[in-house]
Parts: sequence; C-alpha cells; structure tokens
Amino acid sequence: MKNHRYTSVAIVLHWALAILILGQIAGGLYMHNLPNDSSIKFDLFQLHKSFGFSILFLTVIRLGWRLGHKPPPLPFEMPAWQKTGARMTHWGFYALMVLTPLVGWAMVSVSPLDIPTKLFGLVPIPHLPFFTNVADAGASEDLFKEAHELLAKSTLVLFVLHVAAALKHNFIDKDGVFKSMAPSVVAQWAGVFAILGFLSIGTMLYFAVQSSATQSTLTHDSSDGPSNWSVDYDASQLVFVGMEKDRKFEGRFSDFRAQVNFDTGNLDGSAVEVIVGTGSATTGDTLRDSTIPEKEWFDVAQYPSAVFSSRNILENDDGSYRAVGTLQIKEFILPVTLAFSMSQNGDVVIAKGSTNLTRTDFGLGLNEEWLSAEGVALSVEVKFEIHATQLP
Ligand code: HEM
Repeated sequence: MKNHRYTSVAIVLHWALAILILGQIAGGLYMHNLPNDSSIKFDLFQLHKSFGFSILFLTVIRLGWRLGHKPPPLPFEMPAWQKTGARMTHWGFYALMVLTPLVGWAMVSVSPLDIPTKLFGLVPIPHLPFFTNVADAGASEDLFKEAHELLAKSTLVLFVLHVAAALKHNFIDKDGVFKSMAPSVVAQWAGVFAILGFLSIGTMLYFAVQSSATQSTLTHDSSDGPSNWSVDYDASQLVFVGMEKDRKFEGRFSDFRAQVNFDTGNLDGSAVEVIVGTGSATTGDTLRDSTIPEKEWFDVAQYPSAVFSSRNILENDDGSYRAVGTLQIKEFILPVTLAFSMSQNGDVVIAKGSTNLTRTDFGLGLNEEWLSAEGVALSVEVKFEIHATQLP
C-alpha cells in the first residue's frame, strides 16, 4: 500500500523552514529600510546573516532527504497541468532557498566594507574566496544586492501561490494533499519548535557575546587586560582632519588609551581596543573647540568616551594590515576598518594608519547650520600613529 504522508523529517523541515524563511524576508525588508544611524541595524544584519546560513544548512539537509525519499504521489484525479505546476513550484522553492542565501553570501564577500560574518557572533564564516578583492567591489555589491532582493521577493510570490494551492486542496478538493504535509503527532510539532528554539538560543548567545564585548570596552582599564604591548602615549598621536567652510582643519585627541594584543604570527588571536576621551579633542580654534563637547557633537557629558575595538586583524597582500571592527561614538556602533602599516625603530614599533568616517553616521553635527555649504564637510579623516614596545 502506498504511503500518503510525507516522512516526519520532511514535515519538520518543511514547517520550520516555512516559518524561518517568512521571518527572514520580513526581517530583511525591515532592516533594509532602517535609517543608517539606527542603533539596531548592525545587529539585525548580523542576525540576518546567521539565520540565512541556518536556512541554507537546513535546506541542504532537506534537499538531501528529498532526493533519498520519494514524496507521496499526487492524487490520481488531479489534472496534469496542476501536477506540473505543483512540481515546478516545489523545485522553484528549492532553487530559491539555495540561491537566495548564496547570493547574500556573495554580496557580503564582495562588499568593500569587508564586514566579517560570525554565526550568532560565535562561529566565523569565511567570505567566498572568488568574490573577495574584485575590481569594482561597490558595483558588484549593488548587483548582488538587487539579485538578493529579487530572489527573496520571488520566494514571496511562490509562497502566495503555494498557500493558495494548499488551501484549495484542503477546502475545495478535500483530497488529503494538505494533510500529507501537516504535522499530525506531537513529536513533529516538537521537532519544529526544537529547531526554532535552537535558533532562538543562538540569537540570545549573539546578544550575550555583543554585550560582554561592549561591557569590556566601557569598563576598560589600560593597566590590566591581555595587552602585550606598552604604548608610548607621548610619542603617539590620534588626529582628525576635516573641512569647515571649505578650509581644512586638523584636530587631535590628547587622551586615548590603547589595549593592544597583536602578534603578526598569530593574527587570529590578535585584538585591539582603543578608548578615546571625547572631551580631549582640540583643533586650535577656540570657538570650534567650545562646541565640540556639546550635545550636537560629542555630547561629552553623556558619552565621555568613544571606543574602537577589533578582534579581526588581517594582513593585506602588500604586507600592511587592516583591523576590521566597530566604532562606538555616542549611541552609534558601526563597522569600521582601520588600514595600517608597521615599521620598526629599534625596540619601538610604529603603527600608522587612517580611515575616513562620515560624521553624520555617528550623529555628529546634524543641525542644518553644520550641514549647509558653510558648515563642516561630512567626511572626516582619522589618522593615528601608535608607538609601542612589545612586553616580555
Ligand atoms: C533564505 C535566506 C535569505 C532570505 C529569504 C533573505 C532575504 C532578504 C531580504 C528580503 C532582504 C531585503 C532586501 C532589500 O529590500 O534590499 C535581505 C537583505 C540582505 N540580506 Fe538576505 N536573505 C537570506 C539570506 C542571506 C544570507 C545568507 C546573507 C549573507 C550571508 C544575507 C545578507 C543580506 C544583506 C547584507 C542584506 C542587506 C542588503 C542591504 O539592505 O544593504 N541574506 N535579505
């Protein structure tokens, strides 16, 4: 006698993936439309990638299972065109479930921002090798972004057709097709909730890892921690260069502390954290310097420090380095990559580097007066030179 139901594994994966994919599309559209200065946007992107990889993983299992286990036959009386339509929808779904996350992966791999992916903040996932260091990275990223959006929206279209067909089978044809995939025993529901529960724990772990990283930066004391370098603050400098009314100005932070755990032989274990006293910024212009600590700019009373931290230091092909991390200024935490090169002078190693920041991304100087042509340019260059000796 023919089996008229899908196997438990197929049923559990079907419903878990249906819920996850719908959530993933809704979450993707929501995070895409958030303004750049939203404090949760970065976390939502990280979680979107983690859920996307989980969907890809579950889809591969599901496809493997499907290939090894024949599904129950469609009802004999079902018209041929409907059978063909059903088959096309099912294989279309499988194709989209594989392609959408793969294109998302290509998008983050090619992105010039080079933001690392860690599954729920814990397990590093490498970029796709073929897509890193491509010539026109920005344009390729845009192309993959469009494709990713199109694939996700096509999934939504198939989803509507699929649900409409399932409802027709259940309420009009009453032919048992819907029931063949409906969870019928507690164990099948338990399986669905076990998968969703497991991924919810992953989400909680992600936030736990993030909050412990933030805690450690804010309670940082330069005299302890795993620093294996001693920084000479008198010789080191942290400078910013901007334009006001089309005239270049340069400022510096006199108060910053760096905790450096850097070993060229062990980049995986290397990390850097720089705490900057926002109230120590001066530019040599009394009027400008009196506004820098104000709410409109660094809001020093509420946010006395800014923090850059990176646990992802990579070597470039030319022997220079880049520290991929996050920069927190006021309540904004955004991904930032610091490019730097190193030179040696006796025992002293000098790390020199820079990055360009868009000040409005960090909520700095948002008044019309500052944004006008007479105001301060949005792009600010941050340059640093750190002199340090390695501790024994
Ligand atoms: C089945 C899995 C996935 C689905 C259904 C999905 C769906 C979506 C949707 C609907 C959007 C919003 C599109 C827009 O309005 O522009 C989005 C954005 C995005 N997705 Fe996915 N995604 C999946 C997997 C992934 C994976 C695995 C990654 C990366 C490893 C990824 C990375 C991204 C990124 C970075 C964006 C933001 C693009 C932007 O707004 O700049 N996605 N995704």
